[in-house]
Amino acid sequence: MKILIVGTGYVGTTTGLVFCEMGHQVTGLDLDDNKIQALRAGKLHFYEPGLDVLLRKHVASKQITFTKDTEIAIKENDVIFICVGTPQGMDGSADLTYVKNVAETIGSYMNQYKVIVTKSTVPVGTADLVSQWVSDKQTTTIPFDVVSNPEFLREGSALHDALNPDRIVIGTTSETAGKVMRQLYQSFTCPILETNPKASEMIKYASNSFLATKISFINELARLCDLLNININDVSAGMGMDHRIGTHFLRAGMGYGGSCFPKDVSALIKAAKDHKLPLSVLESVVNVNDDQPLYLIDKMKTILGEELKNKTIAVLGLAFKANTDDTRESPSLVLIKRLEAEQAVIRAHDPIVTLNNLQQFKTVEETVAGADVTVICTDWDAYKNLNWSSIKPIMKQPIIIDGRNMLDKVQLESLGFSYLGIANH
Ligand code: UGA
Repeated sequence: MKILIVGTGYVGTTTGLVFCEMGHQVTGLDLDDNKIQALRAGKLHFYEPGLDVLLRKHVASKQITFTKDTEIAIKENDVIFICVGTPQGMDGSADLTYVKNVAETIGSYMNQYKVIVTKSTVPVGTADLVSQWVSDKQTTTIPFDVVSNPEFLREGSALHDALNPDRIVIGTTSETAGKVMRQLYQSFTCPILETNPKASEMIKYASNSFLATKISFINELARLCDLLNININDVSAGMGMDHRIGTHFLRAGMGYGGSCFPKDVSALIKAAKDHKLPLSVLESVVNVNDDQPLYLIDKMKTILGEELKNKTIAVLGLAFKANTDDTRESPSLVLIKRLEAEQAVIRAHDPIVTLNNLQQFKTVEETVAGADVTVICTDWDAYKNLNWSSIKPIMKQPIIIDGRNMLDKVQLESLGFSYLGIANH
């Protein structure tokens, strides 16, 4: 089938390439010339392990092409995936400006029946709005259907997730569009859930919000476990052995970040508020998450004293999680902001992220030089695999605060480090 992907970010590019793998012919459309040029040359404009190999393969075979020519792209393709961003608006709701622009453009250039698929994370009711926006711009009435088909891939493992989904959700009331979608996904072996667009849109928000809830639950429990001297990792493992609970997303740490959980939980809370319904569980999830990076500062103060002014803090990791260059809503940046407010001296490191306005170093060795304390903020393997015994003499004080519970406490203590994790006893 011929597919148009509008928006070449993580979701759009990964989705397009996965459809190439399934034998479909894909066009990627983006208004940003730099992105188009890079993608045509087989280069990703973001960091996502493994995706570049697939990109080069399908660019070389012309299974995927990239264009800025909106009119031709819309006219030549009958299945159009909307994969543009839905950033958080000022009031917490999802900003649909980009989705609306795409829908209106499709309406203006539509030449024959199209299946328009929203893959961007969009609030409940957006499929109806997209239909309206498309119709408003049509000069002659041409039939089309709008389908909700949310994406569940994670940054850092986007390709694996998109190739091996747990489920595919198709939200449509149209028989014709349903048939097209089933054909598109026919080579996938996972279950396909067919429902209406609103339920499909809600499944996406509910899934992200539930995962965020698991994280805040375990993080809050970790604070109690710290007081009771209990290892939270053992608690997570023991809970996870119950299939009804599951092991995933019970890793205590600095709290969730990224471009999805914070935004989607807020949008769901806002949507409920608009219906005068407080979602008190999710409100607590947000509160716990907002505090979690600062919990590390409490720990720091138990060692360094209340006054952090002029104390040198080495921060290892800026990305919101490993294997991505994304720093949106990164707990690491929340921590740094607070430390700066307390006039601590920050020395930062990340294997791939470089930020302005930050004293950042190329190697961990340079970063920890003279540090009063070293804080692990991102779960990069590079930190896990460090030779910590050779790092120790460089630090002013061999103190590690492990915001990801990723290092071996016993081993570090045997090397003479003071180690504090998140209830990692
Ligand atoms: C998340 C969802 O997991 C995807 O299913 C969804 O498609 C995506 O949002 C989206 O809506 O686009 P992502 O934000 O890329 O994916 O990353 P996750 O792996 O879910 O991690 C989110 C945050 O939770 C990270 O900061 C991570 O460090 C944190 N986390 C995750 C924990 O603190 N503990 C855990 O046990 C798991």
